[in-house]
Amino acid sequence: MRTLPLTNGRVEVYADAAELAREAARRFAALAGTFIANRGRFTVALSGGSTPRAMFTLLAAPPFSDALAWRAIHLFWGDERCVPPDHPDSNYRMTRETLLDRVPLPPENVHRIPAEDPDPARAAERYAETLRHAFGEDAPRFDLLFLGMGADAHTASLFPGTAALHNNDRIVVAQYVEKLQAHRLTLTARTINHANNILFLVAGADKAPALQAVLEGPRDIDTFPSQLIAPDAGTLTWMVDEAAAGQLSVGGSP
Ligand code: 6PG
Repeated sequence: MRTLPLTNGRVEVYADAAELAREAARRFAALAGTFIANRGRFTVALSGGSTPRAMFTLLAAPPFSDALAWRAIHLFWGDERCVPPDHPDSNYRMTRETLLDRVPLPPENVHRIPAEDPDPARAAERYAETLRHAFGEDAPRFDLLFLGMGADAHTASLFPGTAALHNNDRIVVAQYVEKLQAHRLTLTARTINHANNILFLVAGADKAPALQAVLEGPRDIDTFPSQLIAPDAGTLTWMVDEAAAGQLSVGGSP
């Protein structure tokens, strides 16, 4: 693994997506141990898409599945597609298939976004209420928050050119994403940045141009929403593979 300098965090470059997933699972387990030992619980906001699948699969099997204190772990999501939980596009369904169905996580520790609600704005408020109940404050502070990044530099469901990028009043927002022709539910950047530890997992050559623009290009959050991510007090680590890092000037292919 190579590390690259970053003004507000660090970039870790892994040989491939499999090594990235292994280290991300190790990081999850290490942070879980620390937070559970110190505070009795571990709160994690998961990302969706395809990249986290490999990490979830690792966490669902020994040695991780045996070592983790699942009863003290609380899972949330950073964003969700506005579909039922059994829909092929559901981030929750992906997590259920790769992780939840295989580990002894108490059902009450799974805090799903109610994305099946036909009223996206109401779904957003319901999830915000879930977060207020779980964290007892207006701005929830996740112990660990995972993010992915699209080839268009979006993260969570904060897409280029959308109003949600500039919403710092709410915890969760619902919005219609023109390019997807679909509604999405997402944590706002303010909520994401309140997390104690933020881990971006980015793999694949298709992400290289966006990663270079986000990390090394001029600030332009409407075009590159992932530039919004800057923890107000926590840590930020970009865990990327060599393919995604291929266009970084400070750390392109060795
Ligand atoms: C989602 C995700 C989204 C994802 C990126 C990367 O709901 O799709 O939360 O932000 O992390 O689009 O997706 P891949 O991992 O599939 O490349």
